[in-house]
Amino acid sequence: MDLLQIEGGHKLSGSVQISGAKNAALPLLALSILSSLPIKISNVPNVADIRTFATLLSNLGATTKFENKTMYLDSTKINSTCANYDIVRKMRASILVLGPLLARFGQCEVSLPGGCAIGQRPIDLHLKALEQMGATIEIKQGYVVAKAQNGLKGATIVFDKITVTGSENIIMAAALAHGTTTLINVAKEPEVVQLCEVLANSGVHIEGIGGDELIIKGSSMKLLPIENIEVIPDRIEAGTYLCAGAITNSQITLTSIIPEHLTAITRKLVKMGFEIEEKKREITLKPAKQIQPFDVETTEYPGFPTDMQAQFMALATQANGTSVIDERLFENRFMHVSELVRMGAKIKLKGHSATVFGRSKLTAAEVMATDLRASSALVLAALVAKGKSRIHRIYHLDRGYEDLEGKLAKLGAKIERLRSES
Ligand code: UD1
Repeated sequence: MDLLQIEGGHKLSGSVQISGAKNAALPLLALSILSSLPIKISNVPNVADIRTFATLLSNLGATTKFENKTMYLDSTKINSTCANYDIVRKMRASILVLGPLLARFGQCEVSLPGGCAIGQRPIDLHLKALEQMGATIEIKQGYVVAKAQNGLKGATIVFDKITVTGSENIIMAAALAHGTTTLINVAKEPEVVQLCEVLANSGVHIEGIGGDELIIKGSSMKLLPIENIEVIPDRIEAGTYLCAGAITNSQITLTSIIPEHLTAITRKLVKMGFEIEEKKREITLKPAKQIQPFDVETTEYPGFPTDMQAQFMALATQANGTSVIDERLFENRFMHVSELVRMGAKIKLKGHSATVFGRSKLTAAEVMATDLRASSALVLAALVAKGKSRIHRIYHLDRGYEDLEGKLAKLGAKIERLRSES
């Protein structure tokens, strides 16, 4: 199993190009199920989750080719409606095939994703919405068995809680349903917006894109002429590199980004004393005179993303004072805390809140990655820890960060990927 070795204490400099967003690409791959044409999706990050999703689609009968960050998909050939446990257990986002498969074929069986390192993560809201659209749903032997023989029907659906993949699933289902669907309290994440825009460009009538209420006119099971798509930049990868610049108090520039998608993150960095310079598709972070502590609460977009919570916790260890981080979306998203403490961080946990006492002189340690974003917090801490840290189980990082060590090395970090003997 690969591990990362990082020698801390080096400043970063230069620029880094941000990849396409994994969380935008995944629903777009799922959307191919609704396409009447083979489709080409560009700016797709070469990360494990994307390759897993492509395997899922090819298991269903689609043809897929992934080269030069471009995914060529022909999902018109799909002849199976079963997403099996082996693939869903690797990646919860596999649940994104549920809405499109059911809408197109009137039935499907998708393995129920289990809990994961960051919490229970139920999919009850996806299922409830599909039932409101006329589906019958049973759980059999760990599978969601969904049926809507004559197709799904438009309905008015109020999401009790904002759910990103839940919104995406139901938006795709509604696009092929009979009649009009109104979705209330829908997620507004840029990844959801891109999905809606692609549907609108394919002739689907959608009102309210970017807001929390959508009205979608379904095509009555007619497949959609979806064509070329370019995936939006990854705001979480971008945020992670901003934190890498910040924790080492360096000047770095990110290219190929959409600055507006990063507002919650850059505002927080400015409050901490960093200077942010924005251009159309670029951001430059400049060092702080003294890194200030901060308080943050994770919430839905456009608020501060839970996917940046762990990285900001690493950063808080270098602030001059006490920071408070409140995790509001997931019940167990503090797995990185004990590893950061092993590197010398001073963090007190109480319920969904973490108090970080800065500034700590971190020292290198052997640490274990536990989930995708928790792992990136350990990489950030290692950039400033004295000595050589080793981060194990980096398959978590490989799920979502394209060429992390290459990009960090280009910025001047002393980082290498090693193969562990055990
Ligand atoms: C997506 C992102 C993930 C991010 C999360 C929150 C993808 C592939 N993943 O995950 O990176 O951390 O949004 O921004 O885009 N919930 C329910 N019932 C449901 C669905 C969700 O109770 O049916 C709860 C969840 O447990 C959680 C909250 O709603 O507490 C938000 O989860 P959700 O937005 O659904 O997260 P994902 O879509 O799984």
